[in-house]
Amino acid sequence: MTARTPEVQTKLPAVGTTIFTVMSALAVEKNAVNLGQGFPDFGCDPKLLQAVTDAMAAGHNQYPPMPGILPLRQAIASKISALYGHSYDPQSEITITAGATQAIITAILAVVRPGDEVIVLEPCYDSYVPNIDLAGGKVVRVPLTPGTFRPDFDKIAAALTARTRAIIINTPHNPSATVWTEGEMRRLEELLAPTDVLVISDEVYEHMVYAGAKHESAARFPDLAARTFIVSSFGKTYHVTGWKVGYVAAPAPLTAEFRKVHQFNVFTVNTPMQHALANFMADPAPYLELPAFYQRKRDLFAEGLSKTRLKLLPSAGTYFQCVDISEVSDLNESDFCQWLTSEIGVAAIPLSAFYGDGFDQRVVRFCFAKKDETLHNALERLARL
Ligand SMILES: Cc1ncc(COP(=O)(O)O)c(C=O)c1O
Repeated sequence: MTARTPEVQTKLPAVGTTIFTVMSALAVEKNAVNLGQGFPDFGCDPKLLQAVTDAMAAGHNQYPPMPGILPLRQAIASKISALYGHSYDPQSEITITAGATQAIITAILAVVRPGDEVIVLEPCYDSYVPNIDLAGGKVVRVPLTPGTFRPDFDKIAAALTARTRAIIINTPHNPSATVWTEGEMRRLEELLAPTDVLVISDEVYEHMVYAGAKHESAARFPDLAARTFIVSSFGKTYHVTGWKVGYVAAPAPLTAEFRKVHQFNVFTVNTPMQHALANFMADPAPYLELPAFYQRKRDLFAEGLSKTRLKLLPSAGTYFQCVDISEVSDLNESDFCQWLTSEIGVAAIPLSAFYGDGFDQRVVRFCFAKKDETLHNALERLARL
């Protein structure tokens, strides 16, 4: 008898192979410069690598405490307090996670019950919707304003119901590279004040804000902070996306619920990286200097692109640059990205990938977290456009 694998009824029928996987595979096949997926092609600070080696040599190789090692939680609390003026108790309000991705799904599983509504602002990062589906929640999609990607508070207000459990926000924003203003954060704070709606604030690009602008963390707004899971990621900040270490800061009652799920989700996160990150965080320079580091790359890339017929959208934060393709091509975003990869030799991501209904506004996203030589190489190829 041949062995038979029972059929499984999928829990995520809408999820297939993502465009990120498709574009990365095509980029390899066509030997294209991959400005699609968002990760650096350069290394991290050697001091950080040395700190991991030192931590392992010092014997930090067994399970750390469930919420993460205290020195790292203390370092995070100090940073948030210094930058955003809000004190989180490292014991009861900060948890180390396996990247922002785990932080987000754990927060959702901790608070969203079957039938609860969760508002997402589209375009949005691709894990939010499947996470809500897995929790049995109902996804309520509210578009950011087409063209500017600003939050539309009338639309958000109209989407709030007695069943709304949470809203997920993301600033600096992937994929649009916009950054919420203080006024917008205040509007959100006021809108939610009479409700019991929780906020999941995805702030993984918190240290990538340009032209002297400020990152408006939810931590800066006391009434928002009181209802918010703030999520961040060391992968983005320290150029180590493969390490998958992040954290969640949330008021103690929210953190208690978060940890109930976290302990059966991953229980805890690898020990040597936590020790290394705690040591490395003692010096704030690497994250304070990140805006200048990336702004130079942004400007270099934008300068080259401005010589093409691609129309640049503002990039106020993150390591992404969006461009309008309508002067260059009649193709839809997805076909354009395939063509660009195959024929021009540069991979990009269509914005339609960040919408549930595949909304196409003729805009694609490039990632400029690349070595200068990679950016120059891409620009030489894009010069044909
Ligand atoms: C908006 C956003 N949130 C979360 C993540 C995931 O971060 P991590 O790699 O720490 O899981 C990413 C990564 O691209 C992102 O762009």
